Amino acid sequence: MVRLSMGCGGALYTPTLVLTAAHCVNGTGNNTSITITQGAVDLQDPNRTTRQSNYVLQAPGYNGTGKDWALIRMSQPITGVPLLQVATDLSLNSGTFTVAGWGAASEGGSQQRYLLKADVPFINDATCKASGGSYSGLVDAEEICAGFPNGGVDTCQGDSGGPMFRRDATNTWRQVGITSWGEGCARPGKPGVYTEVGHFAADICTAANTIGGCQTPPGGMSVSNPGNQTSTVGTAITPVTHTASGGTAPYTFSATGLPAGVQINASTGQITGTPTTAGTSNVTVTATDSSSPAKTASTSYSWTVNSAPIPGCSATNGTDFAINDNATVSSPITISGCAGNAGTGSTVEVHIVHTYIGDLLVELVAPDGTVYTLHNRAGGSADNINQTYTVNLSGEVANGTWNLRVNDNASADTGRIDTWTLNLGGGTPPTCAPGTNGTDVNIPDNATVNSTIAIASCSGNASTASKVEVHIVHTYIGDLVVTLVAPDGSTYVLHNRAGGSADNINQTYTVNLSSEARNGTWTLRVQDAATADTGRIDSWTLTL
Ligand code: ARG
Repeated sequence: MVRLSMGCGGALYTPTLVLTAAHCVNGTGNNTSITITQGAVDLQDPNRTTRQSNYVLQAPGYNGTGKDWALIRMSQPITGVPLLQVATDLSLNSGTFTVAGWGAASEGGSQQRYLLKADVPFINDATCKASGGSYSGLVDAEEICAGFPNGGVDTCQGDSGGPMFRRDATNTWRQVGITSWGEGCARPGKPGVYTEVGHFAADICTAANTIGGCQTPPGGMSVSNPGNQTSTVGTAITPVTHTASGGTAPYTFSATGLPAGVQINASTGQITGTPTTAGTSNVTVTATDSSSPAKTASTSYSWTVNSAPIPGCSATNGTDFAINDNATVSSPITISGCAGNAGTGSTVEVHIVHTYIGDLLVELVAPDGTVYTLHNRAGGSADNINQTYTVNLSGEVANGTWNLRVNDNASADTGRIDTWTLNLGGGTPPTCAPGTNGTDVNIPDNATVNSTIAIASCSGNASTASKVEVHIVHTYIGDLVVTLVAPDGSTYVLHNRAGGSADNINQTYTVNLSSEARNGTWTLRVQDAATADTGRIDSWTLTL
């Protein structure tokens, strides 16, 4: 049992998650404003335990009717105390329940310093609905009622979010309800209404898995959830760890949906590696224990791999721009050193501070005015946008001024563009047509000659597996040194006097040119290093 600083109750669902009522919180998102008090009947007990929230997850789809549940994540766990097991089916929706809280002890009364509890009997949906007024709108599947026909014992204002619980067949305390609403308090014929936890147990578990992990059923097993991951192509990840509990060690781990380039260690559950491809995937990690029959548990989270920034093709605007009520504001980024078009996997990393992101339309406006919608009034009352969007911008010339345009479409809440980063080089690089020089260049005896190819409209660097297709006519290729010279003067030797008296070179060489900018003038340099035989560069083709 915990007290929440906004004036509600809650119960420890896991060491880091508190289960409370949706109507006690303001939506989903980062939230450091809630203080959780635990481990004391007296809220002023000097030995009480307190924690601070860092995230709130309100029941998806909550709109004020039914679905009155939410999870609050604490920045530090509360360990060494029992958790209240939730009911996972409807079998305990009968009998007598215990309710508890620091809310008012009578209708209109003040909040309590000392925790109170009471026992109240189950009331079936039909009877509850017949109580008139708001009760006729009872959501049968999602709400459960409790109270005495003549009233007198009830939860009241400030008890919301707290648990209603009873023992199960194995004498384990189980949470069957979350204090939600009632007409007045303890009035005759006006029962207390509670969120039906057994109905929502699977949804609560799914939600909990996205912010730290689901409750471990007694005798069951669970695997920890590291939260959503973000990493960058080409940069080794910080190892992501998973721990299994509740089963028989050792555990075997497996994963689906991992980004290319990273892998899970089957015995430690640790994911390591270096992502090779940009994109977002849904990762599910499963642990299997050593008992027979084996138990398993899974956890899921999303993993976004951003493309590596290409110098000249990436920039940030960290200047704050106020988002005024019902107004539009733009934050510009000018790109000037990025030849050709943007990539198919370009990324837009957006950080907006706002108190109601359901107000916001967020768009990327390309230099030519093309609009790409990033966020269109989703998220309801959740705070802040901190997200990386992957956008196919291959139809856009990279250089020019890009804008992040934010439109606040509803009255009341406001905020600011905090910072945003545009990375135009991601994903499949824009097609970079091969270059060919088919003009013959004679190779006189003991001479060095050049043939050039100018590449002008390919952004970024060349590939690790660039191809140089060479056709040289010569009567003694053991005479020849053939070198590719990059625009910056770096040299790559393709052929160095091998082949003895053989005629002609007709060969495609694969070269790692990833440290070379594509654009510029590339040279095929051929040196005839021995007297007698001669020939010509017939043609060559460069695919970067
Ligand atoms: N909605 C109230 C709160 O926020 C709880 C009301 C419970 N009322 C009742 N009669 N059981 O604290």
